[in-house]
Amino acid sequence: MAQFQSLPGFREFYPDALARRNHVFRGWRRAAHAYGFSEYDAPVLEPLDLYRAKSGDEIEAQLFSFTDKGGREVALRPEMTPTVCRLVGEKANALKRPIKWFSIGEFYRYERMQKGRGRCFFQLNADIFGEPGIEAETELIALLVECLRGFGLGAEDFYVRLSDRNLWFYYLETLGLDEARIGGILGAVDRYEKLGDDAFKDYATQFGPLDDGLKAKVLAFLGIKTLASLEATLSDITTEKLQARLGDWRRLLANLADMGLADFVSVDLGVVRGLAYYTGFVFEAFDRKGDLRALAGGGRYDTLVGKLGYNEMPAVGFGMGDMTFALLLEQRGLLPAVGPATEVYVVIGGAAERSAAFADIAGLRSAGYRVDYPLKEIAFGKQFKAAAESGAKLALIYGGDELAKGVVKLRDLTDRSEHEVPRAAVVEAVRDYFTSGRSA
Ligand code: HAM
Repeated sequence: MAQFQSLPGFREFYPDALARRNHVFRGWRRAAHAYGFSEYDAPVLEPLDLYRAKSGDEIEAQLFSFTDKGGREVALRPEMTPTVCRLVGEKANALKRPIKWFSIGEFYRYERMQKGRGRCFFQLNADIFGEPGIEAETELIALLVECLRGFGLGAEDFYVRLSDRNLWFYYLETLGLDEARIGGILGAVDRYEKLGDDAFKDYATQFGPLDDGLKAKVLAFLGIKTLASLEATLSDITTEKLQARLGDWRRLLANLADMGLADFVSVDLGVVRGLAYYTGFVFEAFDRKGDLRALAGGGRYDTLVGKLGYNEMPAVGFGMGDMTFALLLEQRGLLPAVGPATEVYVVIGGAAERSAAFADIAGLRSAGYRVDYPLKEIAFGKQFKAAAESGAKLALIYGGDELAKGVVKLRDLTDRSEHEVPRAAVVEAVRDYFTSGRSA
């Protein structure tokens, strides 16, 4: 039994797993670049205060935090949002707006482990700063869809649930609730899907039991799933801000429909998001079957940059994790087979042939081919076995007879055919092999 095991919830990536992870990251990067986002990075260890009272109670309770040797209270980052706000806040005047940034990094939360949730995970974060209007939400929801669709998933596999903390706030205000009570109700709405009626317990403890009529209204609002029923519910409430907000909804949904994304986005007031800083539209992506936890979540957070001590700056963004996403790709058979690490295997006769082989291996590698060879001198037979196991399609044979003639033998490992080429033309011969389709 091994002495040292990795910590619970921490992941190790053997080469096949890392190849799959890289495949996901490549797709996310491709999508983010296509949408005009620039990549940034930031520290994994941050001052604890960055998260205290900024991210919300749930994340604060899950922090990996400690005091460092200099007596500073620090935490491994549980999310990117406060950090990226600092980056933007620090250089706000120098940055051209809208600021469209993304990053891919590892995050740490001391969570109860379950399917699709670990204590360390990767997230794509994409955020737009400096745009107060729904144009930023349009762009981010479209990017979120692209990050899933780019892997072959369709509207039958996943969807984005769109909601709005502002609308909730305005609606609950018209029902006569003050700010503290509204906060309590939104907390209950956030937990309602998981806990049912128990979700209202915290509210009852704080403010007394929720009046039955009010509760019915909250539950009806939470169940709204179309723009039409939203409009119908709010039709007799004529406050200006509520009606203006409905206008934002119509424009956002129309933008998304114009982008061909109507099938991917559902109105769903049941989502309010648990994180403390959201101030407007919020959204979460889920698999259609409902087997898995959220694939991604985000929303508008116009006050967080200001709360960190900088000038206020409107912001919208989302985070998408790698774990539920990998489960979904696996369920749908969309994780690619891992390709071999080697394309060309060089078989070397003996010590006398090594120097010629080494020179050509260097040339082939700098031409961009993935080349391997036996580190130690071993019998020809074993080398061919290693060549076959490496997954290479082509073997180059550097035997004494060949080198005496100034040639190298190319063996196609897929059909075992062989031919000789002049040593001086070996790179061209390999290129010809891989571009002529003979390797297919
Ligand atoms: P979040 O909803 O906490 O939002 O996380 C976003 C996504 O990260 C989740 O939907 C999930 O895919 C993944 N995730 C979160 N926790 C775990 C975990 N313990 N194990 C595996 N995956 C996990 C945020 O983090 C916000 N900061 C997103 C954001 C960016 N909002 C604005 N900009």
